[in-house]
Amino acid sequence: MTIDFKDEAKCISDKLIRIRRFFHENPELSFKEFETGKRIVELLEESEIEVIENVGKTGVVGILKGGKPGKVVALRADIDALPITEMNDVEYKSKIEGVMHACGHDSHATSLLGAAMLLGKVRKDLKGTVKFIFEPAEEINQGAKAMIEDGVLENPKVDAIFGLHNSPNIPAGSVGVKEGPLMAAVDTTGIRIYGESSHGAIPDRGRDAILAASAVVMNLQSIVSRKISAFQTAVISIGTINGGKANNVISEYVEMTGTCRTYDPKVREQLPRLMKNIIQKTCEAYNAAGELEYEFTLPAVINERETTAIGRKAVSKIVGDDGIVIPELTGGGEDFALYQEQVPGCFYFLGVRNEERGIVHEWHSQEFDIDESALCIGAGILAQSAFDFLEKESSDGMQ
Ligand code: NI
Repeated sequence: MTIDFKDEAKCISDKLIRIRRFFHENPELSFKEFETGKRIVELLEESEIEVIENVGKTGVVGILKGGKPGKVVALRADIDALPITEMNDVEYKSKIEGVMHACGHDSHATSLLGAAMLLGKVRKDLKGTVKFIFEPAEEINQGAKAMIEDGVLENPKVDAIFGLHNSPNIPAGSVGVKEGPLMAAVDTTGIRIYGESSHGAIPDRGRDAILAASAVVMNLQSIVSRKISAFQTAVISIGTINGGKANNVISEYVEMTGTCRTYDPKVREQLPRLMKNIIQKTCEAYNAAGELEYEFTLPAVINERETTAIGRKAVSKIVGDDGIVIPELTGGGEDFALYQEQVPGCFYFLGVRNEERGIVHEWHSQEFDIDESALCIGAGILAQSAFDFLEKESSDGMQ
C-alpha cells in the first residue's frame, strides 16, 4: 500500500495551525514546559499513541508500534521558548509577558505532532516502531542530555533519528537537506592571566596582566589563520575581558571568556592544545602566566550518509526535487548533535520564510515568525522519513 503523506499532511494543515498557535500563545521556558507537555500528551493520546511523561524532566515521549516487526526510528522536536518579549502584532501573539517562541520551537513540536497523526493512521503498514521525542530545554543545551540520560534512546533501542529546525532563510515550501556538517560544535572557554601589580607609573616593577591579555587575544586569531587548513574552518571568539581596578594601577589579573565553533571533530580536538600553547607562550614572553579552561559543550550537527540519503528521497516526495535546497552551514549549535553521536541521523532545515508577508526575521528576534504553510510540510517530511527508513531497513534485512 502506498501512502501519500503529502496529501494527508495537507488535510491536517488547519488543525496544525491551531495547535501551533496554542503553543505560540502559551510559550514556556526551558524545563518549565508543563502546559506544552500536557497538550502534547493529549494530542498523542488522541492518535492512540503510547505516552511516557517526564523523560528528561519535562520531556514527553510517544511510542507507536507498527503492525509489522522492524527497526526503531526516532523523530525529535524541541519544545521550549525564550525569555524574549514578542513584538509581532498578530492574533496569536504570546500571552506570556517576556516569553516568546522566538526560535520557532512551537513549529517543531507541531510538525512532530502532525507526523504522529499521519503515522498513527498507517500504523498497520508500519514495519517497526516510531519514537516521538519532545525535548525540553534545548535553548539551554540541557534537554537532549537529560533525555539521553533518562534512556530515551533505549527500550526500545533507537536505530536512527530524524529532526528539523525551521529556517527563516529558506522560503516556505522548500527544505534544506545536506549530508555532512550542518551546524557548528559549540565550545566554551575561560582564560585566566596572572601578573603582578605595581603603580601605573612604574610598570617595570610589575608584570602587566592586561598587556599580556591583549597579546593573547591577538595571537589566538593566528590559530585560525595559521594552524587550521585553509580548507577547514574554525571561529575563536573572546566575548568578555575583565581586569584591573584603577586607572593608575598595573593589573595583576585578567579573566576572559569566549566561544569556539568548528564543524570537523578533528579540528575541534586540536583547539584546546593550540590555544593553551599560544596562551602559555605569549604570557611567558610578557613575564605573566596563563591558564585555559576548555569545555566541549556541544558537538557539531553532522548528517550521516545513509539516513540523509533516505531523508532526501523522503523530502522530495513532499516538496519535490525543486523544493530541496542545500543549506549554508550555520555557526549556531543544536543539541540534536548529541543524539547523532549515539545513532545515525539527519537534521533538516524547514523553510518558513515569506518575504511578501515580512516573515524574514532571524531566530531569537522579537519579530521572529513563521509562514504556517510550512507546518504540514514539517509533518509530512518527518512522517515520510520515518516510514521510509522502516521500509528500507525491513527490505534490506530480507535480502
Ligand atoms: Ni532553536
